[in-house]
Amino acid sequence: MALEQRPVGKLDRALIFLGPPGSGKGTQAKVVAAKYSVPHLSTGDMLRDHIAKSTPLGLKAKPLMERGELVPDSLVLKMVAERIERPDCSHGFVFDGFPRTVTQAQYLGELLRRQGFEQPFVIHMVIGTALLIRRITGRRTCKVSGEIYNVYDRPPKVEGICDNDGGELIQRPDDREEVIGPRLNAYHKQTAPLVSYYRRLGLLHEIDASKSVEEVEQGIEQAVASMRGAR
Ligand code: AP5
Repeated sequence: MALEQRPVGKLDRALIFLGPPGSGKGTQAKVVAAKYSVPHLSTGDMLRDHIAKSTPLGLKAKPLMERGELVPDSLVLKMVAERIERPDCSHGFVFDGFPRTVTQAQYLGELLRRQGFEQPFVIHMVIGTALLIRRITGRRTCKVSGEIYNVYDRPPKVEGICDNDGGELIQRPDDREEVIGPRLNAYHKQTAPLVSYYRRLGLLHEIDASKSVEEVEQGIEQAVASMRGAR
């Protein structure tokens, strides 16, 4: 039976995608969220939306994101807390790019407890730096739907145009080569400590993110099934 036809049951918790920039968090988080019919919550997308609308948060976040630095915890936490209180999150949700610091993870744990959720599942996307650079510099995103392509590994049928809706494919400002170093540094300094944080809690499942999109998807499906079976 094709993967997408299998009945998957309920998620009823937070699923967290943890991994460096370009590891495939967004690509896979969208698939799992659709499979479980729960929201895909990308803090990067939420912040880019604030920037596009020039909100006070967007104005603060813009220069930081353009330099490849993290947005301060206090701003991100408020944005996330407001989002997961909405009714569409009552059966769980998939985080992509959150939490990104130990402070964010601790706060999330508290929020989830307060809202009656069990402990989250955490998928750690493991991949080497050389592949990340190829993936980040090759990424193009549909301006309309956010669909993710890659000029090297996942090209659209027509260059610069989304296969699904004909939208223009654009390169993110922080995907320029000079910003990749600072983004990777921020990951190693501020986000990588979450690997041992969640491992100690017994919530971490490692996935080889260097494989093909389909193989990674299969690995994640098995990981989520085994974590759900073990709870
Ligand atoms: P965010 O938008 O979260 O970016 P990121 O973490 O840097 O991750 P990316 O979106 O670059 O990569 P991805 O892992 O999602 O990979 P993708 O699936 O696109 O954050 C941006 C900024 O916002 C941060 O720098 C920070 O400033 C701020 N921010 C966000 N959240 C924050 C937080 N919680 N706290 C503070 N600040 C925050 O794939 C990449 C490419 O590879 C694509 O082209 C794709 O087609 C291709 N690809 C994917 N999988 C495969 C595969 N298996 N094989 C071949 N190609 C593949």
